Amino acid sequence: MSLQVSLLNNTFANPFMNAAGVMCSTTDDLVAMTESASGSLVSKSCTPAPREGNPSPRYKDLPLGSINSMGLPNKGFDYYLAYALSQHHYGAKPLFLSMSGFSAEENAAMCERLAAVATEKGVILELNLSCPNVPGKPQVAYDFDAMRRYLTAVSAVYPHPFGVKMPPYFDIAHFDMAAAVLNEFPKVKFVTCINSVGNGLVIDVESETVVIKPKQGFGGLGGRYVLPTALANVNAFYRRCPEKLIFGCGGVYSGEDAFLHVLAGASMVQVGTALHEEGAGIFARLCSELQQIMGKKGYKTLDEFRGKVKTLE
Ligand code: DHB
Repeated sequence: MSLQVSLLNNTFANPFMNAAGVMCSTTDDLVAMTESASGSLVSKSCTPAPREGNPSPRYKDLPLGSINSMGLPNKGFDYYLAYALSQHHYGAKPLFLSMSGFSAEENAAMCERLAAVATEKGVILELNLSCPNVPGKPQVAYDFDAMRRYLTAVSAVYPHPFGVKMPPYFDIAHFDMAAAVLNEFPKVKFVTCINSVGNGLVIDVESETVVIKPKQGFGGLGGRYVLPTALANVNAFYRRCPEKLIFGCGGVYSGEDAFLHVLAGASMVQVGTALHEEGAGIFARLCSELQQIMGKKGYKTLDEFRGKVKTLE
């Protein structure tokens, strides 16, 4: 039996990686991910200049998931580009770099510089179109004209295949419109579904107080709250974007959760809230649990069941 995944000219030992934002902001974090049993890793969404992000507390683990409003704290594009450059090309775990500039032009400028490192080191871009947490900055992917402008600007300067990180959608018409935009861009080779369910509000009943400080307590939800939304978005884009790969993200705590993401259509499977809770040891557990389920069902590879979720008649 094998958990191997081959895509974008890379082979991954298994489909698991961190979700951007978790265990990926510093060199220490990225080394911990590299030394874990994950198949891959992605670095924190970056901006041209370093950012401190929003005031703390800005992340809270909860029984059913998490809420966060980090505000894009990151060490700046140059830091993650230097990390990518420091990596060995051969034998190393493939690295994704997440980018979240504040305009089409900022992203294009970073992409012009990333291009050479992508050629030399094989780093793969995940362009974040779905950051919900910066006050006064609406999510790009909830504005289809803005999304088209960003993808046009990046496609014009970036010669490599890349992926996009999408927010959840909740209406069939929006699945149709978002997929139609993505399908205009042949360099977009993977679609990561989903980012957090934006702007939830968690209130502690005893203290009658919100649990995070930024944005009057409003923040992105992850974890158990979001698994069905994540599976729906993975499958919606899997059905609508037959030329692209889908990366699943949202609510993965167990091998069974990952199995469901692959059934819905996922190629890679990202882990956010559960990784934050459990630490990098989670990847060995997820691999063994996923293999155990595949064994029981008689599957030898992920390809045998990817996207094969059954519907009723
Ligand atoms: C942050 C959160 C996100 O969901 C995202 O996509 C990018 C950044 C943040 O708050 O740092």
